[in-house]
Amino acid sequence: MSYYKIENLEQYFKHYNKSVREPRKFWGKIAEENFTWYQQWDKVVDFNMAEADIKWFTEAKVNIVKNCIDRHLAKRGEKTAIIFEPNDPSEAALHITYNELHQRVCKMANVLREQGISKGDRVCIYLPMIPELAVSILACARIGAIHSVVFAGFSASAVSARINDSECKMVITSDGGFRGNKTIDLKVIVDEALEKCPCVEKVLVAKRIHSKINMKAGRDQWLEPLLDQASDNNVAEIMDAEDPLFILYTSGSTGKPKGMVHTTAGYMVYTAYTFKNVFNYEENDVFWCTADIGWITGHSYILYGPLLNGATTVIFEGVPSYPDFSRFWQTIEKHKVTQFYTAPTAIRALAKENIDFVLKYPLKSLKVIGSVGEPINEEAWHWYNNHVGDRRCPIVDTWWQTETGGIMISPIAFVTPTKPTYATLPLPGIQPVLMDEKRNEIEGNQVVGSLCIKFPWPGIARTIWGDHQRYKDTYFSAFPGKFFTGDGALRDEVGYYRITGRVDDVVIVSGHNLGTAPIEDAINEHPAVAESAIVGFPHDIKGNALYGFVILKETGETRNKENLAKEINQHISDHIGPIAKLDKIQFVTGLPKTRSGKIMRRILRKIAEGDYSNFGDISTLLNPEIVEEIKEGKL
Ligand code: PRX
Repeated sequence: MSYYKIENLEQYFKHYNKSVREPRKFWGKIAEENFTWYQQWDKVVDFNMAEADIKWFTEAKVNIVKNCIDRHLAKRGEKTAIIFEPNDPSEAALHITYNELHQRVCKMANVLREQGISKGDRVCIYLPMIPELAVSILACARIGAIHSVVFAGFSASAVSARINDSECKMVITSDGGFRGNKTIDLKVIVDEALEKCPCVEKVLVAKRIHSKINMKAGRDQWLEPLLDQASDNNVAEIMDAEDPLFILYTSGSTGKPKGMVHTTAGYMVYTAYTFKNVFNYEENDVFWCTADIGWITGHSYILYGPLLNGATTVIFEGVPSYPDFSRFWQTIEKHKVTQFYTAPTAIRALAKENIDFVLKYPLKSLKVIGSVGEPINEEAWHWYNNHVGDRRCPIVDTWWQTETGGIMISPIAFVTPTKPTYATLPLPGIQPVLMDEKRNEIEGNQVVGSLCIKFPWPGIARTIWGDHQRYKDTYFSAFPGKFFTGDGALRDEVGYYRITGRVDDVVIVSGHNLGTAPIEDAINEHPAVAESAIVGFPHDIKGNALYGFVILKETGETRNKENLAKEINQHISDHIGPIAKLDKIQFVTGLPKTRSGKIMRRILRKIAEGDYSNFGDISTLLNPEIVEEIKEGKL
């Protein structure tokens, strides 16, 4: 019996039970039957949750890119691996076959080696959504270099912090990128970032917007001529199952971003398996995930998951609103997309526009539609179901995280009955539990609690780069022996899960996971600011938006508050990126603090939401009078 594909609900329960009772047999069989290995493992899993020490497929030898590309060549060499849909729809789309992808990745891998990159070196990739981004990632993985992709919307200081944290030797970037009717000068941002990055020796630059840029002698080189000269013959590195594959930074509750480390074999098995099942992937499907490859969704479900299954995957350079709001629907028609995977924030933004933008396109090719990144509200769910899925395509509301590597709780298309706003059931191998405040597991259904996972799965991140203690403290200490997700959830009467949102200091804005601490740090660096506190509040399109309470220094700040608010937002943009800008800023004279000096965010959240009904117990506040003052200031 094969466990790789779940055909119906009964089989789901069978596989699920097997994965809980005999996880080693379950994952061992999947790994053995669906991938090529240089050498088999001795243990399927070896772990100590208390120490946050988790290993899958110990001692196995493998190369993930051989599994993504080489092994498909005999059967699928002329099949399209990547469809590149450019920002401007009048520019021709590219169809890159598996043979061509192989050739491009091998050339790039040789360039990297010639430029001094070898196994274990870190390479920062700061590129727009162009084929070079996929090729660079795969070339790193082919030679065992650890890729650290930084989303091309981050500012210079965010880029340099990430480069320095993992001591990248090289940066791969481009002259710039197109985004709707704008261009973004990526190389200028890299130049500024690298002023503070002594570890970077080389910069390779792809050409995209043909802008005039500075090339620093001895450091910067154009990528194209190097690729032209490179051989397309490349021997892949033999990797250990637990060798790091990539680092991807995510926000945390302190100012420093967390470099989540994913390793090779477990991530490979898990992304391939979840892609195949959740989206009901079949051989001739065309899969389109609209995320940016700079986030985990793009890593796992634009690149690795689809390519591991020999699929055709779309890389979309543009934005949903350019040249008009029909771009998504037009692109689905154009490429006959069968699975479409996007974020609630995009759905809400498009639902607000004229319905004709979507009705113009019959979207008959679609069979499954997906949602990821934040809770999908009921209205958006129904709009998506009625107008995009035509009530015939199941919606897979997939819950997961950068830390989990792949989808964790989600309907399996055509298997799990869906329910609006519910991520429904855990995938095989995933053992979710809800915990109460006393750290006890909450049994039964119709309950609410903090969502933890009590058994390791192959895709879990193994550590935080350079800081295993922080990994342990963040994920394994709140509920000893369990992985704490930071999310709250409810379990309904049949055992379906609904994610209710973050229970920590992370706010999801337009599907982007933003820590409030780094934003506060950025604001506090403004010379006029003494202190600040950021909270999220509900927003029609973005899901959540950011509200900042700011205390100014007592140096007789006389500037116009409106200008100051603009400056503060510019400051955030410069330090983190425009995605972290505040929607509202309120200047206050104090913040509600407990006697131990902790800001009571619960109260600020209520004020930001405009809910003044019940602030709960404020007797532990050092300065209870400030609550009234802040509330009055807002009104
Ligand atoms: O709060 C959850 C929310 O996004 C967080 C993870 O963010 P990130 O690491 O950036 O990864 C996003 C893409 C996987 C989670 O802790 N989240 C993600 N998917 C959902 C969700 N919340 C509700 N429903 C979802 N389907």
